[in-house]
Amino acid sequence: MKKIGIICAMDNEFALIKQALAHGRTAQIGRCTFYCAEYAGKDIIAATGGIGKVNAAACAQMMISNFGVECIVFSGVAGALSDKLHIFDIIVANDVMYHDLFPASLLRDNFPNCDCFPTDARLAELAETVCTELGLHCIRGRVVSGDQFITDSIVKARIISDTHGDATEMEGAAVGHVCYLNNLPFAILRCISDGADDNGEMDFDTFVEQAAHRCAKLTLGLVERI
Ligand code: ADE
Repeated sequence: MKKIGIICAMDNEFALIKQALAHGRTAQIGRCTFYCAEYAGKDIIAATGGIGKVNAAACAQMMISNFGVECIVFSGVAGALSDKLHIFDIIVANDVMYHDLFPASLLRDNFPNCDCFPTDARLAELAETVCTELGLHCIRGRVVSGDQFITDSIVKARIISDTHGDATEMEGAAVGHVCYLNNLPFAILRCISDGADDNGEMDFDTFVEQAAHRCAKLTLGLVERI
């Protein structure tokens, strides 16, 4: 794979990646800025796409349609749903789905007849290998997305019961959905910044910077190995 797209939601998630691509150029599509540079012998197109599903979906489709990326890696932070995940742990998604689509069967029973989008197995395995090399604790699992920042233990319990998700964030399923429609391999890498519970907001503020940095480091490590 020669041309790789990298998407983050927020500038702090993007900082290290932007620094690694500083020798390149920028391209403007509408209101979105894309950083284009060679890194580890690959053409990288990277952007802060913004928070939420529509921003993520639009950014992914722009990368595919305007730059012809061959895969997309999403890098950022997430709230833990699984007891196996603690602050600063990594989750490499096996699949992604929405936690705010009711009923979820709408996407199963109608086009595109899929409500749970599988990530690329090779990219996920490579990411896991890079975690081991970097000494990061990592699990594989399900990442669930919605246009909601989860800081409520009751909402968290509802999402776990509905989706069996291991971590929650606001973009992964939208990127997975767009990649599924385009037949494009993708990876969702997330570092845990909070427990998506009643302490979620305080934990996020405390840990987001460091968690974002860890995930970006993992993402650059993955790109080096693709
Ligand atoms: N990203 C990081 N933590 C999150 C949370 N608790 N809810 C949604 N997105 C997140």
